[in-house]
Amino acid sequence: MQHLLTINDLSQAEILDLIALGKTLKQDYTPYAQALAGKSIATIFEKPSLRTRVSFDVGINKLGGHCVYLDQQNGGLGQRESVQDFALNLSRWCDAIVARVFSHQTLELLQQYASVPVVNSLSDLYHPCQGLADFMTLAEHHDDLSQVRLGYVGDGNNVTHSLMIAAAKLGAKMVVVCPPNHFPDGHVVQQCQQLAAQSGGQLLLSSDIAALEGCHCLYADTWVSMGDSTPLEQVTATFAPYQINAQLLALSGAQQVLHCQPAHRGYEISSEVMDGPQSLIFDQAENRMHIQNAILLTLLKG
Ligand code: CP
Ligand code: NVA
Repeated sequence: MQHLLTINDLSQAEILDLIALGKTLKQDYTPYAQALAGKSIATIFEKPSLRTRVSFDVGINKLGGHCVYLDQQNGGLGQRESVQDFALNLSRWCDAIVARVFSHQTLELLQQYASVPVVNSLSDLYHPCQGLADFMTLAEHHDDLSQVRLGYVGDGNNVTHSLMIAAAKLGAKMVVVCPPNHFPDGHVVQQCQQLAAQSGGQLLLSSDIAALEGCHCLYADTWVSMGDSTPLEQVTATFAPYQINAQLLALSGAQQVLHCQPAHRGYEISSEVMDGPQSLIFDQAENRMHIQNAILLTLLKG
């Protein structure tokens, strides 16, 4: 493992190892308190963030490392200077680069020119740190992830893609329910169908919420992702039947609910469900930090 741009870069064994290390870290950081001593990690953000920014910064600190936060105020990626020069300069001071970008191609350029590991902390195409944190959260409730039935409902987006890839690699069943014209990228779907065929997993796509029946866990994300200027109100009528609420939870029989956040309470998820007994949403947010630390330790070991 040299970089992490997509979960597709990882084997099933590597995913399971990261989850196991994430769980170990969560129990006790003491043996790892100096694991990143003397190491500096740049975190670049082209888009806003709460969870990613804080969980990387606090997480790196727990491992004895140093986090350098770069927003767009001091010169955007590829604007004040090229992405290539960003990568070449940062590689001279930092031991890894974490980047949240509009276009996935920017990450590929960073990876091409950096001589240190590059981690995707969200692009238009994927959100691998999120997908891994989500399966770590599921692993806290399921001994065998290949037996999990995960139901994603809403807009087919970057988070959906990373979940689909993780599920397909792990041999899990995933049901993706979206309004017509809001399905995940066709190329990613095809790739996941192939991966699922190899792993014994299953990927089902539908616009009918009845397809969520029998899922262990329901998953929601925003109906409008960062970088899309469509007002939320404009899509509300289309997406309203796909809200995770008490009724959908009862229909599915799911005992667990996930949401990557930021959540729009009353839109993709009701407050009742978000704060209800099935919600693992804040465990999931906490686990971002542990899985990211597992990723950094794995990339920087040796
Ligand atoms: N889930 C997630 O990545 O949250 P932020 O956008 O707040 O970082
Ligand atoms: N799909 C969302 C995820 C936010 C963490 C977005 O890209 O805005």
